[in-house]
Amino acid sequence: MTDKQLIVLTVNGEEHELLVEPRWTLLDVLRHHVGLTGTHVGCEHGVCGACTILVDGEPVRACLMYAVQAEGCAIRTVEDLGTPEEPNDLQQAFSEHHGLQCGFCTPGFLMLAEGFLAQEPSPTREQIRETVSSNLCRCTGYQTIVDAIEATAAQRSTESGRKEDAVR
Ligand code: FES
Ligand code: FES
Repeated sequence: MTDKQLIVLTVNGEEHELLVEPRWTLLDVLRHHVGLTGTHVGCEHGVCGACTILVDGEPVRACLMYAVQAEGCAIRTVEDLGTPEEPNDLQQAFSEHHGLQCGFCTPGFLMLAEGFLAQEPSPTREQIRETVSSNLCRCTGYQTIVDAIEATAAQRSTESGRKEDAVR
């Protein structure tokens, strides 16, 4: 029997004490032990991006990371963005621009885009296209996902401009 290890994971600002086997992936631990099933399981070998989350602000494929490696990191999952009743601006834009159909890939795209926009608040359409090419979507044809991310970037930049004007 493999020895379990006690770890503390910080997920969406909350600490979780967990007894895990060193071989368990962060993806499985988030879904089965923390109870956050918004992060989806696709290929389980780093190809599809359905499991993308943020680790210390960087988009990471949760199926390629062991849970024990994530101790001490700030983990964000799709549950941290918003709720069906109160979606955040990016989720709202995905809805308005039809950036999803079956929705299976959507949590991964949302977290990918959230991490990308934090690092690149005013991206070109080409940069958005390059970024989303890391994740797979079998339904949308990608254009609507690019539209949603572009619209969010534009809206956030308008809002931050307004805030800057207000403090002047
Ligand atoms: S499930 Fe992780 S990349 Fe596909
Ligand atoms: S919306 Fe169906 S896989 Fe992307």
